Amino acid sequence: MDLEQRSINVDSLLPHYERYFGHSPTVIAAAPGRVNLIGEHTDYNNGFVLPMALEMINAVSVAPSPTGKHRWVGALGDSIIELSPEEASQTGDPFWSNYVRGVVCMLERRGVKVPAVDMLVDSNVPRGGGLSSSAAFEVSVCTALAALCGVDISPTERALIGQQTEHEFVNVPCGIMDQFISANGKKDHALMLDCKDLSYQYIPMTDPDVSVLVIDSAVKHSLADGGYAARRRNCEEACAVLGVESLREVSLNMLEANKTKLGDLCYRRARHVVGENLRVANFAKALEEGDWEAAGIAMRGSHASLRDDFEVSCAEVDTLVGLSYTIPSAESVYGARMAGGGFGGCIVALVKSDAVEQVAHEMLEGYREALGIETTYIVTRPGQGAHLLFQEQ
Ligand code: GLA
Repeated sequence: MDLEQRSINVDSLLPHYERYFGHSPTVIAAAPGRVNLIGEHTDYNNGFVLPMALEMINAVSVAPSPTGKHRWVGALGDSIIELSPEEASQTGDPFWSNYVRGVVCMLERRGVKVPAVDMLVDSNVPRGGGLSSSAAFEVSVCTALAALCGVDISPTERALIGQQTEHEFVNVPCGIMDQFISANGKKDHALMLDCKDLSYQYIPMTDPDVSVLVIDSAVKHSLADGGYAARRRNCEEACAVLGVESLREVSLNMLEANKTKLGDLCYRRARHVVGENLRVANFAKALEEGDWEAAGIAMRGSHASLRDDFEVSCAEVDTLVGLSYTIPSAESVYGARMAGGGFGGCIVALVKSDAVEQVAHEMLEGYREALGIETTYIVTRPGQGAHLLFQEQ
């Protein structure tokens, strides 16, 4: 995975589309990937998350197909796949087409008749890096198709369509965070979401003195591997023991009182979730007050808990986070943690802006020395959620 970005814009997409299909797109939609600042593995426990959208996007260009069949193609040289309107809403090959098939199916379930379309998909969100390339894909497809069909589907509904696509067409039992931030993200803002009722609030992230640094561990992760689903089951087991509907209703005192009944594993899983919700609240407050030290403490606590209690980190990611304490410029790092589902992917750090390039350089250097792995990083600002790049008048 390479975090250094290739730019994607209307000028680069239009000729590309025309070369494939011999006509122009009527709609081009974009949706971003995300990095989660804090609140990991809390979304499917009715808890709190605090992600921000990235400036990296998935772009989908579409127009009705003159052939009566769907024709879809990825911009990176894949061959065009052709599907009948019936096939387009069922699972099938190639695997990537399921992200589109799922969205078509979910739109049809909501009474939207999707015509056969010619579709070009392009993305600069790295795949398998824990930056939600799939959510960006689903949400951009949904945004493009809704605009093409002339129907108004709210960003939150588009997020739910993306999540249902993951569940039913991709076999990933994910929560709502990734699709929600991809659909609802706002430039220069992080978003705090209450996954219990999907209410949310934007928090400005405009302090020029603080930068968000994302570093790839170069370990590919996959949420379909079983570790993610197993964590969800552990949380459900803990709820069953405690007699609650979700871990949202559980306090640290209640956990302690039921420690023996829960057993070590479920106790630790639940302790992560309950503690993480508290850390999100602390982080949000710190962000609002510009208290970066406090924000960093919450991030560091989150990482330790994900590593030790939830056990979703890995040696490489722990090495990167560890380096944030030991590099020569360590005092310029407020906090760092694994980001996303875990088992690889990226770390996210809050760093003093005047030292961010130096910190990145030292981290990459240290990582190469420790593990022999070359990797990449980006310094990013919060990007814009799903939007149209182009629509024919
Ligand atoms: C993945 C899932 C999200 C969320 C995170 C962990 O990114 O898609 O729903 O559960 O893992 O916080």
